[in-house]
Formats: sequence, C-alpha cells, structure tokens
Amino acid sequence: MPAYSLKVNGQSRSVDVPADMPLLWVLRDVLDLPGTKFGCGVGQCGACTVHLRGAPIRSCSLPVSAVGSAEVTTIEGLSAEGTHPVQRAWEEIDVPQCGYCQAGQIMSAVALLARTPKPTDPQIDQAMNGNLCRCATYLRIREAIHRAAVIAENGPAASGTGSRSTQPAGEA
Ligand code: FES
Ligand code: FES
Repeated sequence: MPAYSLKVNGQSRSVDVPADMPLLWVLRDVLDLPGTKFGCGVGQCGACTVHLRGAPIRSCSLPVSAVGSAEVTTIEGLSAEGTHPVQRAWEEIDVPQCGYCQAGQIMSAVALLARTPKPTDPQIDQAMNGNLCRCATYLRIREAIHRAAVIAENGPAASGTGSRSTQPAGEA
C-alpha cells in the first residue's frame, strides 16, 4: 500500500492506506480523530467537513491521494481546549441538539468567519447551506455565528450577539 505524508492539525502524519480511501476514514480510523462525522458519504450533508488549506471541504468525497501536502484541520485542531471563538459561541448559545452534525457546522462557520469576519444573515445562509441538521438547529447556528463574530473581535466577555436573526435559515 502506498504511504502518504499528511499535515493534520499542525503535525506530520504518515499513513499506509489505499489511494482511494476517503480522507474522512483516514482521519477517523487511521489517525484516531473521530470528531469528524460520517453522514451521507456522497458530499451532500456536510457532517464530514474539515479544512483543506483553510477552506471547508467534504472529507468523505476526497481521496487521500488528492490531499498532498495541504494542511488539513479537523475539529480537534481548532483549539487545544475548545476555546476557539466559534466553539465558545456554540457553547454559550447551546446550539447542538443531538450533536451529530455540529463538528461539520462549526468547521464551516470557522471558515466563513475567517474570510468574512462580520457576515450578514444571507452570507451565513449561503456559507452554511451545505451543512444539514436533522434537528433543525439552524436558527441557533446563525445566532452563534453572529456571537462568534463579536467574541472574535472583542473577546469572550463582550456582550451582545451582533445582528440577531429574524428569519429561519435554510430549514428544509
Ligand atoms: S458525509 Fe460527507 S457530505 Fe455527508
Ligand atoms: S444537532 Fe442533530 S443533526 Fe444537527
């Protein structure tokens, strides 16, 4: 089997796996990073979202052979103690219900805020459109993204949630 040298959460990791093994299974089963979840397996739900060079990608649909030397970041790599502004906001707003989709939601939200520090509701809806939640936590997700923007700018003690949501976001 070929050996691949990956950069995951700031560390170099060598794996001996088939070339067509999806990155998701390399992360979960080989590298013991189970925070990234399997949902649909066909790029439709977003549960498996990780960052590749800082951009959100569906790890269920990316063969390990296509990763190359690009930096991969998983939910485990966001912060050592769960203190990334998005993680703080998620906890504060109490976003998850069953929780299954939430790692993917958080990774998409982090990528959005990295490129758009103060997103509008439409920008949030567009960026989060591919992350499905069977528990329909969409309104709390939107509120938490606004809150994370405030925390990122002013620190965790800052009050207010930014521009609050008034419309359901992507409930389908
Ligand atoms: S498991 Fe990858 S998009 Fe659904
Ligand atoms: S919190 Fe249950 S699927 Fe999203």
